[in-house]
Amino acid sequence: MNRDAWAPGEKDAGQGREARLRMLDETGSTNDDARELARSGAPHGTAVAARRQSAGRGRRGHAWASDEGNLYLSVVLRPGVAPARLPGLAPACGVGVAGALRELVPAADVRLKWPNDLLAGGRKLGGILVEVERDAAVCGVGVNVASAPAGLAATSLAELGRVAAVDELARLVRERVVTAVDAWAAAGGDRPLDGILDEYQALLCWRGTWVRVIAPDGSERARGTLEGVDAWGRAIVDGVPYTAEQASLRPA
Ligand code: BTN
Repeated sequence: MNRDAWAPGEKDAGQGREARLRMLDETGSTNDDARELARSGAPHGTAVAARRQSAGRGRRGHAWASDEGNLYLSVVLRPGVAPARLPGLAPACGVGVAGALRELVPAADVRLKWPNDLLAGGRKLGGILVEVERDAAVCGVGVNVASAPAGLAATSLAELGRVAAVDELARLVRERVVTAVDAWAAAGGDRPLDGILDEYQALLCWRGTWVRVIAPDGSERARGTLEGVDAWGRAIVDGVPYTAEQASLRPA
């Protein structure tokens, strides 16, 4: 991202002298923009949001449809924790984003699907992509505000009866992500999810229910009861721990 190139689309969202949140009309990926900001020394909490993305990306190399009307936000994070704790960063971000959405639509009972999807009524409301830079990380958040991608088990805030202004939502989500990450970092501990595990588990969907464990190639690895998530962020299904690289979960 070249600052000159993105300046014409930029509106300062007005957070004082530091302009912590920048709103663009269009960009490739806000995660790329935020990573470049991080490389150039942007402080913890600096954020960039866009009305549209032309190259939005999700986890595992998937494209992220990014039409106008939904939220595309990325936050630069400098939690200052030991590298061994960094796997706890994405769950901490998830707790922050889910908290913001639960506040907006309390009746929707927004939950986290391990490791970090945002679900409402069993349908995907949004997703989180955390990417680590050398001395910082970027938390990218996509939320279906006005519309959900067709043909997927997805929903939107509009479908849930909540009309939300994307700029306002970007501010709220940014603030909640920073607050959750700061609380997690300040809690200390040796293991990645120390300081956030209880909150994360309280938001976890399908806990105590029968789930299917799906390998990255789409094959079913196992079925069993989702017991919860451990302090390393692994899903425990019938006593067996799975990392997010090894598996995803579906309801059985
Ligand atoms: C997922 O696969 O569920 C994660 C999706 C993350 C999408 C967001 S939109 C804002 C930011 N910019 C991107 O290119 N991706 C993230």
